[in-house]
Amino acid sequence: MRAIITGASSGIGAALARELARRGWTIALLARRADLLDALASELPTKSIALPCDVTDAAAVREAVKRGEEALGGPFDLAVANAGIGVPSHAAKFILADAELMVRVNVLGMFNLFDAVIPSMVERRSGRFAGVASIAGLRGLPATSVYSATKAAMQAFLEASRIDLLQYDVGVTTINPGYIETAMTEKNRFKMPFLMKVDDATRIIADGLERGKRVVEFPRPMSLLMRFGRLIPDALWERATSPYARRKIEPEKVRR
Ligand SMILES: NC(=O)c1ccc[n+]([C@@H]2O[C@H](COP(=O)([O-])OP(=O)(O)OC[C@H]3O[C@@H](n4cnc5c(N)ncnc54)[C@H](OP(=O)(O)O)[C@@H]3O)[C@@H](O)[C@H]2O)c1
Repeated sequence: MRAIITGASSGIGAALARELARRGWTIALLARRADLLDALASELPTKSIALPCDVTDAAAVREAVKRGEEALGGPFDLAVANAGIGVPSHAAKFILADAELMVRVNVLGMFNLFDAVIPSMVERRSGRFAGVASIAGLRGLPATSVYSATKAAMQAFLEASRIDLLQYDVGVTTINPGYIETAMTEKNRFKMPFLMKVDDATRIIADGLERGKRVVEFPRPMSLLMRFGRLIPDALWERATSPYARRKIEPEKVRR
């Protein structure tokens, strides 16, 4: 079985590559930092290939998918749109360039992978597309409005695509993690509830993908909290979350 994972140079993507390779998958690793991808590829127990590429470049993603298929001996059975960035975005200090970048990487990056792998999956009537969204997409979260919006966009797209692709036997999985220990959360100076180790997170993700789950959402307490948050009136949500509009981060640790 062949998988392609974007954002595989660090964090969830790299750990998911390790977990899937341990389970016998051959893996194509896609991200911008070639040195990290090469190091990971040489460490994996199954056949793998590093595909240095920017997910915001549709033609480059298409080309990378082609190279990956040639190197691994056939089309992908699983594609995981995981590449993402999280730049803090307080509505009172809105920075359009940051907002645009987050939309380009998180949303367009997912579309670019989708565009490159879905025609073959539909033709073969098999395969699975997954997107790593976030629990942050389930309701508008203060001090992270744009990130939250990109993840909500991913969730809506994945949900609708799952229905469209049912008749073609192509599965779609929405992955909604809570806080996970990675470079992305390193910048946060506030207490992150139910913070989880990346290896525990990727075991849950790999299990969900292999079982063909529609939605993989964890950790359970965080999921329940946000699902409850979706049920309460707007005024109550506002009251509960307004203290978080002053969340602290370390700007020098924000990666773009
Ligand atoms: N950590 C959490 O708490 C958490 C929670 C929920 C959801 N998520 C989501 O999980 C995904 C992975 O995040 P992470 O926590 O593992 O953070 P991370 O360690 O910072 O990983 C982000 C990955 O995305 C890649 N990437 C960023 N921009 C890219 C671009 N333009 N083209 C190609 N690759 C790009 C990075 O690689 P290069 O820099 O080498 O390109 C890196 O491999 C993201 O979508 C994030 O939103 C994370």
